[in-house]
Amino acid sequence: MSNFSQTVNQDLSLSEESLQIDYLSGSNLLSNSLDGQDVILGLTQTPKTLPARYFYNQRGSELFEQICELPEYYPTRTEAQILQQYAQEIAQMTGACELVELGSGSSTKTRLLLDAYQALGSKFRYVPIDVSGEILVESARQLRQDYPKLDIQGLVGTYTQAMEKLTPSSFPSRLIFFLGSSLGNFSSQDCDRFFSQIKAALDAGEYFLLGVDLQKPKHLLEAAYNDSQGVTAQFNLNMLEHLNQRFAGNFDPKLFEHWAFYNEEFNQIEMHLRSLQSQTVCLEALNLKIKFEAGETIRTEISRKFDKDEMKQQLQAQGLKPLTVWTDPKQWFGLFLAQKSEVN
Ligand SMILES: C[S@@+](CC[C@H](N)C(=O)[O-])C[C@H]1O[C@@H](n2cnc3c(N)ncnc32)[C@H](O)[C@@H]1O
Repeated sequence: MSNFSQTVNQDLSLSEESLQIDYLSGSNLLSNSLDGQDVILGLTQTPKTLPARYFYNQRGSELFEQICELPEYYPTRTEAQILQQYAQEIAQMTGACELVELGSGSSTKTRLLLDAYQALGSKFRYVPIDVSGEILVESARQLRQDYPKLDIQGLVGTYTQAMEKLTPSSFPSRLIFFLGSSLGNFSSQDCDRFFSQIKAALDAGEYFLLGVDLQKPKHLLEAAYNDSQGVTAQFNLNMLEHLNQRFAGNFDPKLFEHWAFYNEEFNQIEMHLRSLQSQTVCLEALNLKIKFEAGETIRTEISRKFDKDEMKQQLQAQGLKPLTVWTDPKQWFGLFLAQKSEVN
């Protein structure tokens, strides 16, 4: 598949050729030394922000799995229903493939696709990509048990790092897929940048499968991000623990509270952490002191909610021609299959 000139294999008993996990060098994920420039930038601007990827240490990944099971959190089960219904059609449309998944997490929904490709009978490969090495390794182990013949070539790193490393596939085609509405975490500008990275990682005629959350009434959205068991609040606050671990910090999560609301002007859920008092926090490894006023917030996530037709237009404008959009009966979630155009 790809030629990773600077990769490191972890202790995973990865002697078999068909299971390999590479840690992309430069991601600095082998130690606690993520370089943190994005943290410095986010916490020194007004209003303060942090990149959503810092949700995902091991605890964060576990909490996200719990969120997926919550009664209020409809996206995971709705997208899974759509995949359940249409995975076979997707496999038939794309044919034998290298399946590259961005932000693979537990790879749970992915199994619906793997089953469909397996049923086609032709050879295929699975390339999970995730910034959280812990969850990627754990899910690769589980997939290995359940699909003993599956060729898995995982990459630990960011979307950008991983896509830059992909070289043309040796398979008849490549399908890059991005589920769970993680696209919603990007601003519109970052979305365009991301689509051009996708396009660069595909040859003409290859495929992109995208799952996104669609616009719906505010009360349904706000309930999904303010669950009654408080798991989303724990997930949000865990970002502070993650920063403490990574950057020798002294955030006290008890001095912050979870706050999530739907911003109708921008069609986005915003998750914030609100400081309960005026305080100064230090991230020693970054040589950074951050002052908070009482009530001041850090925005930890945007989760944009999309319009089906606008998304089709945006994909088309980026040279990713939409072939089909599948939705659920309530039209809450959309799964878009696009193909890289021959001429750009
Ligand atoms: C919301 S979860 C979605 C997991 C799974 N795809 C799903 O649909 O349930 C996002 C996943 O993407 C990973 N992730 C977040 N930001 C990332 C980034 N910039 N690069 C690579 N992976 C990232 C996280 O570690 C997490 O496993």
